[in-house]
Amino acid sequence: MKKITTTMLNKMKQDGEKFSCLTAYDASFARAQEDAGVEVILVGDSLGMVIKGQASTLSVSMDEMVYHTANVSRVCQKSLIMADLPFASDITREQTMANAARLFSEGGAHMVKLEGGAAMLDTIDFLSQRGVAVCSHLGLLPQSVYKMGGYRIQGRTAEEAEQILADAIALEQAGADILLLECVPAKLAADITHHVKVPVIGIGAGAECDAQVLVSYDMLGLTHGTPASFVKNFLAETDSIQAAFKAYVEQVKNGTFPSEEHTFSS
Ligand code: KIV
Repeated sequence: MKKITTTMLNKMKQDGEKFSCLTAYDASFARAQEDAGVEVILVGDSLGMVIKGQASTLSVSMDEMVYHTANVSRVCQKSLIMADLPFASDITREQTMANAARLFSEGGAHMVKLEGGAAMLDTIDFLSQRGVAVCSHLGLLPQSVYKMGGYRIQGRTAEEAEQILADAIALEQAGADILLLECVPAKLAADITHHVKVPVIGIGAGAECDAQVLVSYDMLGLTHGTPASFVKNFLAETDSIQAAFKAYVEQVKNGTFPSEEHTFSS
């Protein structure tokens, strides 16, 4: 069983081979996802909503992130474990480094994810220079939901799209190892994916991205309220959670997910 590394993910991008990512917050889901072939497991701060029942991710603490990351990493031998730096855990670059260190040493993560564009450049550079593997999250930033005026598609105007593309390029130059694009038009995500060398993971960002991520509870049909239009319920077409994870991996890899109905064209 070969451990997934950033080098392997880069090679997959170069070879045009797509990879899959799902969120997990506990050992059982992590084990089932790894068995299904999920390359990257994200311990997302979406746990604020799906585990804690909050309306947003803002209440998630570092202690909670460390706890859930450790529960996931403990049982995984192969998947790369990415953990979110929660709201306000990344205000200064030194604080971010100390919190990333906790996710690595106490949580067993291999990579941290931070939300934000130009404002995070200095921090990404600081972490990267110190050997921390980083994923930069662009587009819809759930930690900025109140500033952004809700969970809405980003990059619809030419000005917004140019800014997100410029941020993506600058973040790669600053040392980001992966970019994650949330809720942007497919054309913008495709432009970014083709422009940068590092892998791009999409959620509501179209099929051209190098990889896809979904919140695991959403793709099992457990969304509280109406699911977002980019979500597909994989359990509806299979007969077990394990089979749903496998179907997801297969459809991401062969490019059939996301289809048009799960994509924003503009
Ligand atoms: O926290 C999370 O689950 C995420 C995904 C929505 C990408 O950041």
